[in-house]
Amino acid sequence: LLFHTIDKYLYAMRFSDETLLDITKRFRAELTRGLGSDTNATASLKMLPTFVRSIPDGTEKGDFIALDLGGSAFRILRVKVSHGNKQTVQMESEVYDTPDEIMHGSGTRLFDHVAECLGNFMEKHDIKDKKLPVGFTFSFPCRQTKLDEGYLIKWTKRFKASGVEGADVVQLLNKAIEKRGDYKADIMAVVNDTVGTMMTCGFDDQRCEVGIIIGTGTNACYMEELRHIDLVEGDEGRMCVNTEWGAFGDDGSLEDIRTQFDIEIDRGSLNPGKQLFEKMVSGMYMGELVRLILVKMAREGLLFEGRITAELLTKGTLPTKLVSAIEKSKEGLIKAKEILSRLNLEPSAEDCVAVQHVCSIVSHRSTNLVAAALAGILLRLKENKGVARLKTTVGIDGSLYKMHPHYARRLHKTVRRLVPDCDVRFLLSESGSGKGAAMVTAVAYRLAEQTH
Ligand code: BG6
Ligand code: GLC
Repeated sequence: LLFHTIDKYLYAMRFSDETLLDITKRFRAELTRGLGSDTNATASLKMLPTFVRSIPDGTEKGDFIALDLGGSAFRILRVKVSHGNKQTVQMESEVYDTPDEIMHGSGTRLFDHVAECLGNFMEKHDIKDKKLPVGFTFSFPCRQTKLDEGYLIKWTKRFKASGVEGADVVQLLNKAIEKRGDYKADIMAVVNDTVGTMMTCGFDDQRCEVGIIIGTGTNACYMEELRHIDLVEGDEGRMCVNTEWGAFGDDGSLEDIRTQFDIEIDRGSLNPGKQLFEKMVSGMYMGELVRLILVKMAREGLLFEGRITAELLTKGTLPTKLVSAIEKSKEGLIKAKEILSRLNLEPSAEDCVAVQHVCSIVSHRSTNLVAAALAGILLRLKENKGVARLKTTVGIDGSLYKMHPHYARRLHKTVRRLVPDCDVRFLLSESGSGKGAAMVTAVAYRLAEQTH
């Protein structure tokens, strides 16, 4: 009875396969619009060319630095790729803090911070006298006309530093490094984290041609036929396209499935009206969605005997990692009791079961939406190749996908149900996007050496 009441209460978040396939259809239409030169400007999917033309081919080698900025952690890595009998990769990495005041301050301060951390890294690893090629994983939408430039279109997720939108982040970083003058660096490539992830997984599986992130934000890239990418010259071969699928729906095309909770999340966000798909899916927003639902249910007397506490009313008191904890099969209910008690809600056993069910509806919706969009990409690849069955590999990363107890399994199952004529292998990127960024940098470096 309890489940039934909640299911009815949140019916707008539960989708039939028919609805999901309809979303797939809308997504495919937006993919096409984003690729066309006359429709690109108005399409919700930006379909950004990345200038990455193939996954690793096993010949890459060298000593590289990878910067990884924009996810839940700012990481710097040294990646050594060498050849003995076979290609091997050796990595060392450090994580650096990026406080709110830096993410929301001036762009100059943000890039000074990045340059300072890089300086510390080189000092610590005793490579300050070397001028190593750098691959910059910058997980935001960037306009590129070549590999080593990236004009930030718009900040997303937790970042909003002033004076960066519209500017080339490679130039900004170079300026910050030159101003210091204590070391040199050669930034060879800007890569989105989806691209870094696809390349990392492509190192282990040659069939990998899609990269997905389900973490703080969500996004996907895939290998598109060059002849379909109007914005880039040439018809031969393929290029990786960053879809920026987080912005799906920004043109109003998902209004029928957005709920009052989604509208509320958007209103209170750093980027109202933008990244509407991301706000229904990713880790930065999921816990907050659950909290808003609990507030409304409590107000209506459906939970906690109508108790509403200051803690429950405070933004951010239910981060997504707690949703993951509550959904655990064995200890989930105990976790729910702990977490809700900490919010002073004095939950009954029934409240705990109810909250667990709310969490499961919200996270199911997230997997369903990702599955619908991914199905769109898979059908596109299948059509591009003109095959009856598509056999492909999808590289995935991101804290929500990795930490939620049921997310991965449910996503795989739903995708396979929505596109039964595709054999999809899902490959978790065990080492983040750094290795992939180094692979891209290796190729860029080799090309630069050849032309000099
Ligand atoms: C990391 C990648 O593993 O995952 C990053 O190296 C990426 O490039 C991140 O941005 C995404 O996950 P989250 O959860 O940190 O946003
Ligand atoms: C946001 C960014 C996108 C990134 C994604 C995952 O959607 O706009 O570039 O890939 O988050 O980190």
